[in-house]
Amino acid sequence: MKLLIDDANIARIKAIYKYYPIDGVTTNPTILKKCGGNPHEVLAEIRDFIGRDADLHVQVVSTTAEEMISEGKKIPATFGKNTYIKIPSTPEGFAAMQALSADGYLITATAIYTPMQAFLAAKSGANYAAPYVNRIDNLGAGGVETTKTIQNIFRNNGFTTQILAASFKNSQQVQALCEYGIGAATIAPDVIEGLVRNACVTSAVADFTKDFEKLCGEGKTTLDF
Ligand code: G3P
Repeated sequence: MKLLIDDANIARIKAIYKYYPIDGVTTNPTILKKCGGNPHEVLAEIRDFIGRDADLHVQVVSTTAEEMISEGKKIPATFGKNTYIKIPSTPEGFAAMQALSADGYLITATAIYTPMQAFLAAKSGANYAAPYVNRIDNLGAGGVETTKTIQNIFRNNGFTTQILAASFKNSQQVQALCEYGIGAATIAPDVIEGLVRNACVTSAVADFTKDFEKLCGEGKTTLDF
């Protein structure tokens, strides 16, 4: 399962990259608004930091297929290889996905709340389909279950489309989909940090340090053997 950061704040992206094995960054217009600044400059700085081989997902803003196609062609031309064009899974979006996938563009179908949106996105040639796990939970429909259903639909129909699950709010949602073996998850920095935040671990590691120092002296490590 690929692990991506769902944020555009370069300081937070750098802080997560420092410690965790990250495959790229996803953004959308709302994330860019929260970040502030010029979206082109923000995205260019992210691409520069994560490097050309990492995945970057950038969303179109237009609402008609024709304009989505124009935007879609410009996005990878601007931000380079491994840039995915995020397209909402609407009727206009499906038309744009079909046209762009026929030309070999990388596509992430986004704003997915139902399995049939994902099915149509896969048939339209999307490389990734992004169900919004927590937002689906908030509708009372079960985000993890919906995502598993989508995975089954993809497998049973022979689609190569992968799931890029989004909108996580807790570790349990991430773990359930990790166990199920989806293609990718994009997660906000605070939720990534929460995956391993655990007072028991902190305390166990502090005890190891204390015990070694009792044995060999303060500040000593195995380098001092
Ligand atoms: O990429 C979609 C995702 O950012 C939605 O997340 O936290 O706004 O539900 P959220």
